[in-house]
Amino acid sequence: MAWHAAADLDEVSEGAPKIVSVAGKEIGLFFEGGRHSAVLNFCPHSGAPVCAGKVMGCVVVRENGSLDYDARRKVLRCPWHRWEFDLWSGEPVVPMRQRLRTYPVKVEAGQIWVDV
Ligand code: FES
Repeated sequence: MAWHAAADLDEVSEGAPKIVSVAGKEIGLFFEGGRHSAVLNFCPHSGAPVCAGKVMGCVVVRENGSLDYDARRKVLRCPWHRWEFDLWSGEPVVPMRQRLRTYPVKVEAGQIWVDV
């Protein structure tokens, strides 16, 4: 893997991701909850362009078993069948083997860099 300059910092903002091509891969760049993330634009279920999905908070189970809505945890919902994945780790919200491919991201010299 190698770091690639993927976009200018001001090209990606909250609620406005950007799809870029890096090292032959289509990658969605997001800035949500104060954090950048980079996600392969390919859903592990059936190959949808997952980065066209909605980003939202997540329902979580608290220690006492109650359900709560956590607006700080961001998930990406696939536009085809609505599977949901953690935007930063790619882990699925419900237990299953498939996860989104995510990449390390850094901001440097006014650009968003992705390790692909
Ligand atoms: S293709 Fe993404 S949930 Fe089915």
